[in-house]
Amino acid sequence: MFHELGSCGYGQAMSNPPSPTLLSHFQAQLGPRGYTSDPRDLEPWLTDWRGRVHGRAAALLSPATVEEVQAIVRAAAEAGVALVPQGGNSSMVAGAVPPADGTALLLSLRRMRAIRSISGEDNVAIVEAGVILSDLHDAAEAAGRRFPLSLAAKGTATIGGLVSTNAGGTQVLRFGTMRALLLGIEAVLPSGEIFDGLTALRKDNRGYDLRQLLCGAEGTLGVVTAASLRLVPAIGSRTVAWVGVDEAPSALALLRRLEARLGEAIESFEIVPAAGVDLVLRHIEGTRAPLASTHRWNVLIEATAPQGAPAPDLETALAEAIEAGLVADATIAASEAQAEALWKLRETMSEAERIDGVAAKHDVVVPVSLMPELLEKGSERVEARFPGVRVLAFGHLGDGNVHFNVRAPEGADDRAWLAADGPAVSAFVHDLVGEMGGSLSAEHGIGQTKRAEFARTASPARLHALTAIKRALDPLGIMNPGKLIP
Ligand code: MLT
Ligand code: ZN
Repeated sequence: MFHELGSCGYGQAMSNPPSPTLLSHFQAQLGPRGYTSDPRDLEPWLTDWRGRVHGRAAALLSPATVEEVQAIVRAAAEAGVALVPQGGNSSMVAGAVPPADGTALLLSLRRMRAIRSISGEDNVAIVEAGVILSDLHDAAEAAGRRFPLSLAAKGTATIGGLVSTNAGGTQVLRFGTMRALLLGIEAVLPSGEIFDGLTALRKDNRGYDLRQLLCGAEGTLGVVTAASLRLVPAIGSRTVAWVGVDEAPSALALLRRLEARLGEAIESFEIVPAAGVDLVLRHIEGTRAPLASTHRWNVLIEATAPQGAPAPDLETALAEAIEAGLVADATIAASEAQAEALWKLRETMSEAERIDGVAAKHDVVVPVSLMPELLEKGSERVEARFPGVRVLAFGHLGDGNVHFNVRAPEGADDRAWLAADGPAVSAFVHDLVGEMGGSLSAEHGIGQTKRAEFARTASPARLHALTAIKRALDPLGIMNPGKLIP
C-alpha cells in the first residue's frame, strides 16, 4: 500500500515490523555467524560515519552467499518487512542507516568478500559485494593490473556500497565514476529473483541497462551481491606534486595546460583551500605543511605512466607554469613516502573537518569551466548572505565536483547553528549550484540527508520516472526505505 507524500503523488510503500517468528526463522537459517540481535553487535551499524543520523533495527543479518541473500529477500518480501543493505557504512549521506522506527532489518554484505576471479586477459575482476576497496587494489596489483577507483574511505568502503552509490573519488578525472568501470552485476531483486549479470562483455545492447540502473540506486531496487569490474594496466611510475596558487582561475588554467602537455597522464587534480590545509595540520597527526608559505588554494596533482613507459615530466611542466605566473610555489614528492604524505593532506581533509566540528556539507558539481566562479564568487555570495559563516570548499576540481561545506561562525555553538541555519544555507548553496547548471549530488548520492533537497529541486519528470521505476521493481517498498526516493 503506497501512501502519498505532498501534492505531487510521489510515495513509498509502508513496510511491516519484523515478527518474532520471522526473526526466529532468520536466526535458524543463518546461524550464529549470520544473525545477531545483540544490541552491542548492532550498535556500530546504526549510526552514520558522521555521527549525525541514528537508526534502530531488531537484527543484523549477515549472509555469506547469494543464495542466502535470496532466501532473506524472499522471506522479507513475504512478510512485507524492509531490509537495509549495508557495506562499510561509510556513506556521507546516511544511505545505509536504518529508519529510526526500527521496522527494517540490517542486511550486511560484509561476509561476502570473495574475489571470485581476476582475468588479466579480459582485464576484469569479479568481486563480491563485501570486498573492501583496498583489498581489491591489492589483489589487482598482485595480478599485475589495477582497479583505478580510489577514495579516502578505501580501507572501509565495500564494492557493493561503491557500486550502489556510483562512487567517485580522486581518480574520476581520468577513469570516470564507478559506472565507467562497471561491466556487470549480480543482484537479488526485491522479487527474490537473482539477476545474474556478471558479464565480462564490453558491449551488451539488450535494452534497458539493469547494471546501470542498480548502480547508483542506493540499495532501493535490490541488493548488489557481486560486480564485474574493469581493470586497467598497473602503474609503472607516479609523480605527485603539491602546488600553491593564488587564484582559482589559475588552478583551472594549470589543469588544462598540464593536460595539453602530459595528456592522459594527469589522473588527479584535487583542490584544497588554505583553511583546509590549516585544519589538517591542526587535527591530523604526522602531517606537515608541504610549502614554505601559505597560498589561497592548493592543488594536489598526480600523474602516472604505465609500466615500461617514461615517467611524465611533471617537473618541467610545472616549472613552465611557474614561469607563466599560474603557480606560486610547488613541490614534487621525491619518494613514495613523500607522495603518501602529500596524499594524506588531501585524504584526511574530511576527517580533520569532522574533528573540528559540524558543518553544512554539500557535494556539488558544476561544469568544470565554472569551478573557479563557484569557488570564489560562490563562496563570497554565501558568506555575504549568512554573515560570519566560513565556506570550506575542497575536492575534485578536475571533474567539477567540490565538497562545498559551510562552517558555523567562529565561536558559535556549531550544532545549534546547524539546526537553526543549516537548511537555509543548504537551500542557498543548492540554488546557486542549480543556477550554474550543476547538481546537488556529485558522488555521495542522496541517501537520507539530501532527500528533502532533492525533492525540492528535482524536476517533476525526474521524480516521476524515479518513482515509477521504484514502484515497478519494489512494489512492496522493502528495499532501503527512507533513502533517495522522496
Ligand atoms: C572526499 O573527497 O574527501 C570525500 O568525498 C569526503 C567528503 O566529502 O568529505
Ligand atoms: Zn569527494
